[in-house]
Amino acid sequence: MTKKDFIPKPYKSSLQQGEVTWESPSNIALVKYWGKLENQIPANPSISFTLDHCRTTTTLKFQKKQRTASNFDFELVFEGEKKESFRPKIQKFLERVEPYLPFLKDYSFTIETSNSFPHSSGIASSASGMSALALCFMSLEKQLDPEMDEEYFTRKSSFLARLGSGSACRSIEGELVVWGMHNSIYQSSDLYGVPFRDEVHENFKNYRDTILLVDKGEKQVSSTVGHDLMNDHPYAETRFRQAHDNLDKLKKIFRSGDLEEFIKVVESEALTLHAMMMTSQPYFLLMKPNTLAIINKIFRFREETGLHACFTLDAGANVHLLYPDNEAEQTLEFIENELKQYCQNSQYINDKVGSGAKKMA
Ligand code: PMV
Repeated sequence: MTKKDFIPKPYKSSLQQGEVTWESPSNIALVKYWGKLENQIPANPSISFTLDHCRTTTTLKFQKKQRTASNFDFELVFEGEKKESFRPKIQKFLERVEPYLPFLKDYSFTIETSNSFPHSSGIASSASGMSALALCFMSLEKQLDPEMDEEYFTRKSSFLARLGSGSACRSIEGELVVWGMHNSIYQSSDLYGVPFRDEVHENFKNYRDTILLVDKGEKQVSSTVGHDLMNDHPYAETRFRQAHDNLDKLKKIFRSGDLEEFIKVVESEALTLHAMMMTSQPYFLLMKPNTLAIINKIFRFREETGLHACFTLDAGANVHLLYPDNEAEQTLEFIENELKQYCQNSQYINDKVGSGAKKMA
């Protein structure tokens, strides 16, 4: 599909008012997206596990206006309270998606959101938040165009979510989602995420992710600034090629179930992401002493037990500990006994791979 396919024909139905609720999860990238071109086109392909428990719930209430206005009309409510600070981000999102949702100025909207994870836990809520909002708008559009098929609905939701926050396009479906053109991934696209449809070994079923909350503060570098730093980064081209190669490697690993090889790719991706930040101009160091303490503990744990827990990182200090379901008992014990002490207020979140967003009744 091209972006023109997402521009709707005149709608056959009309709609005065209503409301719709979606719950959408966060995701954790295994091959990282870092660097983008214009219009939120990724500089390299990425793949992520969709999460299960870390979710945003968004209710969109809409009321048709007497007359189409020249501005967007929306109110934001976050966890029960009006939230003006989200306005610029939502305004920008609406501007970007308007060509694809031409009804936006015909309605007044109330957008109510809440997260399942603690507020300002350092967990990026943009992926779950933007995907939930995109899905709500698609549910409205589906009522204007009742013949819309499910595949179009899903693709366009991901396409719109991408325009809100790149990685959000990987949160619509589960369990593994690829975003960005890649030679050997069927139907992969720079415009939206697609589920990874190749064989996936039993070892990766119900894969666990415990998010160790090292630093709950604000990110030191917004991802917009971060992506831009790849524009004239000395290692950019090599990095982008490496992401393609790592995706090829993961494709084989998902088939074979080789956990040792999985660890090598995933941990190297996380460290490469941070290496890119450390070697850009200006440079950023987002890992904290406790991030490194946890990583070293993980190395030692693997050496001593022969188990397969590994880490990955986002653009922040928190550590995602990934491990197979059948090693959960020992790994959870390790977290309690040895890792919890490095988390702010001893906080961590147990999550696992999930199947994507859900529409609520
Ligand atoms: O979706 P954005 O623009 O916030 O970028 C997210 C980038 C990383 O989380 C660091 C990596 C990824 O692929 O999710």
